[in-house]
Amino acid sequence: MTSIGIIGGTGSFGSNLAVALGRAGYKVIIGSRNKEKGEKRAEELSLKHLLSFKGGTNLDACSADIIWSTIPSDQIDVIFNPLISAFTGKILIESMVNIKFGKFIKAEFIENKSSYERIRDLIPEAKVVSTMKTFSASSLLNLPTTTELQDVFVMSLDDDAALEVEKIISNLGLRGIRIQGKAHSKTIEGMTALAIQLNKDYKGSHVGYKLVNLKTDE
Ligand SMILES: NC(=O)c1ccc[n+]([C@@H]2O[C@H](COP(=O)([O-])OP(=O)(O)OC[C@H]3O[C@@H](n4cnc5c(N)ncnc54)[C@H](OP(=O)(O)O)[C@@H]3O)[C@@H](O)[C@H]2O)c1
Repeated sequence: MTSIGIIGGTGSFGSNLAVALGRAGYKVIIGSRNKEKGEKRAEELSLKHLLSFKGGTNLDACSADIIWSTIPSDQIDVIFNPLISAFTGKILIESMVNIKFGKFIKAEFIENKSSYERIRDLIPEAKVVSTMKTFSASSLLNLPTTTELQDVFVMSLDDDAALEVEKIISNLGLRGIRIQGKAHSKTIEGMTALAIQLNKDYKGSHVGYKLVNLKTDE
């Protein structure tokens, strides 16, 4: 089975993603800035979920077939720069949004670019794919119960890489909706901020996106 290394795998989203991928049969390496922290998280998750994870540094995570990044978006330059050669030719999945909290929650675009655009510009050698941005960390643990309730957007300028990622999404029991055109990478990040805002405004809600086809038979 394909191996997937998670950069920032010790965090809320990264750890739950590791569990979802592990349950779907993927070999997962949990990466961290700190080797011991990555190893410890892997051990904890393995025991708790009766799965087998490896842990280590973010560079260790980059030894996997596919790399998935779940770090804070404003850390892209700091964390990615020392890893750039490890990304060459690989699929690099990213699920990051630079959220600005305040009275109104919004996606903030550093250098007026989405996370996708910043990574593409930083590492043109990688096959960058954005996905699961509008999917909350807690929903990852409820798969496949949440399958019917929300769709997952998949955005990339690389068709083959997007297809590979759609397969992973499908193996998680979810429907991937392919989004063409990098301009929409900002739209999706804005939709993520909107979902967080709605969760705040409607206490106890858990917002996700599900596309419906309104076409009639006329
Ligand atoms: N939480 C969600 O529901 C959700 C949903 C969709 C997308 N996301 C995206 O996923 C990413 C991570 O979110 P999260 O909620 O999982 O955050 P988190 O719990 O804070 O985890 C982020 C991880 O990134 C690593 N990291 C590297 N540099 C860091 C820094 N300067 N400060 C803090 N952590 C740093 C940390 O791992 P080490 O210390 O081990 O290096 C940390 O465990 C964000 O880009 C977010 O937009 C989150």
